[in-house]
Amino acid sequence: MKYLHDLPSWSKLWKHFDQTKTDHMRAMFEQDPKRAERYWLQVGGLTLDYSKNRINDETVSLLLDLAREAGVPERIKQMFHGEKINLTEDRAVLHIALRNRTNSPIVVDGEDVMPKVNHVLRRMGEFAHEVRSGNWLGYTNQVITDVVNIGIGGSDLGPLMMCTALKQYGHPRMRMHFVSNVDGSQLRDVLEKVHPETTLFIIASKTFTTQETLTNALTAREWFLAHAGDESVVAKHFVAVSSNKKAVSEFGIDTANMFEFWDWVGGRYSLWSAIGLPIMLFLGEENFIEMLNGAHLMDQHFYNTPLERNMPVILALIGIWYINYYGGGSHVIAPYDQHLHRLPKFIQQLDMESNGKQVTLDGQAVKYETSPVIWGETGINGQHAFFQLLHQGTHITPIDLIASLEKRSNLRGHHEILLANVFAQAEAFMRGKTPEEARAELQAQGLDEARIEELVPHKTFSGNRPANLILMDKVNPRNMGSLIALYEHKTFVQGTIWGINSFDQWGVELGKQLAKTILAELTGESELQKHDSSTERLIHLYLNTNK
Ligand code: F6P
Repeated sequence: MKYLHDLPSWSKLWKHFDQTKTDHMRAMFEQDPKRAERYWLQVGGLTLDYSKNRINDETVSLLLDLAREAGVPERIKQMFHGEKINLTEDRAVLHIALRNRTNSPIVVDGEDVMPKVNHVLRRMGEFAHEVRSGNWLGYTNQVITDVVNIGIGGSDLGPLMMCTALKQYGHPRMRMHFVSNVDGSQLRDVLEKVHPETTLFIIASKTFTTQETLTNALTAREWFLAHAGDESVVAKHFVAVSSNKKAVSEFGIDTANMFEFWDWVGGRYSLWSAIGLPIMLFLGEENFIEMLNGAHLMDQHFYNTPLERNMPVILALIGIWYINYYGGGSHVIAPYDQHLHRLPKFIQQLDMESNGKQVTLDGQAVKYETSPVIWGETGINGQHAFFQLLHQGTHITPIDLIASLEKRSNLRGHHEILLANVFAQAEAFMRGKTPEEARAELQAQGLDEARIEELVPHKTFSGNRPANLILMDKVNPRNMGSLIALYEHKTFVQGTIWGINSFDQWGVELGKQLAKTILAELTGESELQKHDSSTERLIHLYLNTNK
């Protein structure tokens, strides 16, 4: 395989980096009035302004060469054509099939997957219609008012994020709850709020072996049976979403009440599959399809558009520029939108579980950084918390600022303040404030010269700090579909350039294995095994506290 550090453009970019690393964006904007026009892309209802980055035309052109040399165009084709690019699990990667609205055949192991994708989508639609219309009745013939999704990671974050983001499209009767944590207080809090007669539980787990999910599901079932007292009515209140039929039926859920998906859908890429059932129950079939349409639109753009106008590719390359050349070890996602407050957590799993890897596809240690730490918060709240570091700290931390152009509420004046802050932050990150500007401001306040000189360094902003602006013309199902597909493909392009497998997650296994041994020790099922002295002391401390 081709290694990134051996590609011609990798070293050309290093040279270019040395020549340009001190160039200031402020000057770039002053010298080129058309900068924003050139570094600007629009796909469907999404606009990307990437002009406030430390790039010039040569940077972009070299980064595009890097993408070509790393085989990005070929890998895109391989993914869309159902090739088994997830090598360590020997699987295809086909979240794009789940939203393939043209229905063109996508073949895996000689089988077109589209008929089964459409079949499950139809079943989900029928079920959602029954529940939402009030035809689906609980064991005392009452309509369903509450849905509790029990799942974790990819079986939780996507539906939770979408239902939160699109709250205004939700069914007025339907209250959505999400339980992921095995800390019993989360489930207990939800169970205190809902009634067994009117609650539907969705047990969502791709593998149906995840300890946290199965523990919560068993407890929910016990709670339900303690009220209903009759096993035969469980089917009216429990459905499963999984790729593992056998485990679902062993758990005691009739597979007639199961919505299936397949091993070629990764957990963090699964909100488009049956894992999206809570989304469909809340938003309805039509809106769910709109979300798929929006994702499909981004898929088509990604597949068909030359790299230089390709939004996921551009976003990925800008990321590579900071991570690999500037050494930017983290990346902020800052939605200026209260209902998008779950988005940073979703993108965190998407990116860090996909690209937090240390070996290439052929098992060689990588010689460069891979996924940055992804973190974030609603932008406006971040401004009053961690933005200080982004403006004046010692790290370069690129940020994605995400906002809706359409007003998000009819409360007078709120949206203008919000948007003014998004635009101002991006401008402030880029421009900074020079010592001369800081001095002039302090002089205008009438301070004496000595005090001014003391304060100038503290009031100076170096600027030149990168920000992408992603504007949605409206936060609706279609645009949310496009936005999430954008980040999925960005992650894939970066993984391709790093030569890693973005679709496995072996790194989560070791802790799970060790926890099994320790659990048996904590519950007294097994004798204490040999551990390091710290782990042994911790186990003793717990056992002594709970004698
Ligand atoms: O432990 C990590 C992980 O496997 C994620 O990749 C996944 O999204 C999550 O756990 C939940 O897995 P499952 O859907 O199989 O319960």
